[in-house]
Amino acid sequence: MNLKILLLPGDGIGTEVTAAAVDVLKTVGKKFGHTLELSEGLLGGVAIHKTGTPFPKDTEELCLKADATLMGAVGLPEFDTAPPSQRPEAGLLGIRRVLDVFANLRPVRTWKALVDSSPLKNHVVEGTDMIIVRELTGGLYYGQPRGIENDRAFNTMSYTRQEVERVTHTAFKLAGNRRKKVTSVDKSNVLEVSQFWRKVVVDVAQQYPDIQLEHMLVDNAAMQMVLNPRQFDVMLTENTFGDILSDVGGILAGSIGMLPSASLGMKKGLYEPVHGSAPDIAGQNKANPLGAIGSVAAMLEYTFGLNKEAAAVNDAIGKVLESGRVTADLRPKGSPATTQEVGKAVSEAI
Ligand code: IPM
Ligand code: MN
Repeated sequence: MNLKILLLPGDGIGTEVTAAAVDVLKTVGKKFGHTLELSEGLLGGVAIHKTGTPFPKDTEELCLKADATLMGAVGLPEFDTAPPSQRPEAGLLGIRRVLDVFANLRPVRTWKALVDSSPLKNHVVEGTDMIIVRELTGGLYYGQPRGIENDRAFNTMSYTRQEVERVTHTAFKLAGNRRKKVTSVDKSNVLEVSQFWRKVVVDVAQQYPDIQLEHMLVDNAAMQMVLNPRQFDVMLTENTFGDILSDVGGILAGSIGMLPSASLGMKKGLYEPVHGSAPDIAGQNKANPLGAIGSVAAMLEYTFGLNKEAAAVNDAIGKVLESGRVTADLRPKGSPATTQEVGKAVSEAI
C-alpha cells in the first residue's frame, strides 16, 4: 500500500517527536512492504516566522492532498501576548477546521510497566483503559461572537444539533467495540448548551440499545478520573471540557507525553500527540516520543485500516516500556533515555 502522509512538525519538541515517529513509520513500511510518500509543511510558530501566518495556504493544500497528516506540536512563548488569531495555536485550529475533524479520540490507558510512573497510587491507576471523545470543531474555540473590548471580553459556546449528533455517533460506535459504556460529560446544571447537549445525546442513544449511557457533570468527572478511573470506558464531551480532562488523563497514563490522539471526520484524519510544544525542554533530545509514535499507530489503524501494523507499533511501545528505557518524564529507575533512543528502541522491537 502507498501511504501519502503530510508531516507538520511544528514548534518546540514537536520537531523531535515527529522525527522519532517518522523513523517508526519507515520501519513499519519496510517490514510490512508499504511505500511512504511523505511531504512536509509549516504550521504554528515556525510558519509565522517563515510566512507571516500560522496556517499558510501551502499547508492547507498539502493537507487536502495527503491521505493523513501527522502533527507534532504548536506554540512558542514569544507569542504569549499576541491575540488568539495571530498565535501559533490558530494554525492548529485552522487545520482542524479545514479537515473538519470533529471527533478527537484520546485513548488513556495505564500500561502495566508505568503504574509507578503516575504520581497517583497504583491501586487507583492500575487497569485504566478509557477513551476520551472530544468534540473538536465547535464550542468556545470557534464560537462567534468573540472579542476583547476595553472593559469587557467575551466568547460564545454554541452547538448545533448536527454537531452534537455526529460526534455522539462516533462515541457510541467506539463503545460498541469496547465495554459498551458511554459517559457524556457536561455542565447542564448551569449551561443551556449543556442541557441541549444532553438532550441530543439521549436522542442519539436510542439507536444504540446495547450501549449503557450515563451523564456526569464536568467538575465531578475531573474528580472521578483521579478517584476511580476504571469506571470509564468511552467519555464523550465538548471541545473545552475535553481539552481540560485529557490533560488529567496524562496523570493516569504516567505522563502527558504518553498520550496519542486521532482527529477524525468525514475526510482525512489528523494525528497529533496530546502534549504541547514544551519550550522548557525543546532541542534537548529529552521529550517522550511515545505519544507521537502512538499517533502513528492510530493513523495506521483509522486512516489506512492496517490493523496488524498498528498492533505491531503498540506492542513495540509496550515492550520498550517493559525494558525501562524511557524518557525522564516517566521517572525511570536508571538514567533516562533520549527521544532518539526511545524511537530507535520502538523500531527495533517492531
Ligand atoms: C490540545 C492543545 C490545543 C487545544 C492547543 C495547542 C490549541 O492543548 O490539542 O489539547 O487546546 O486543542
Ligand atoms: Mn490541550
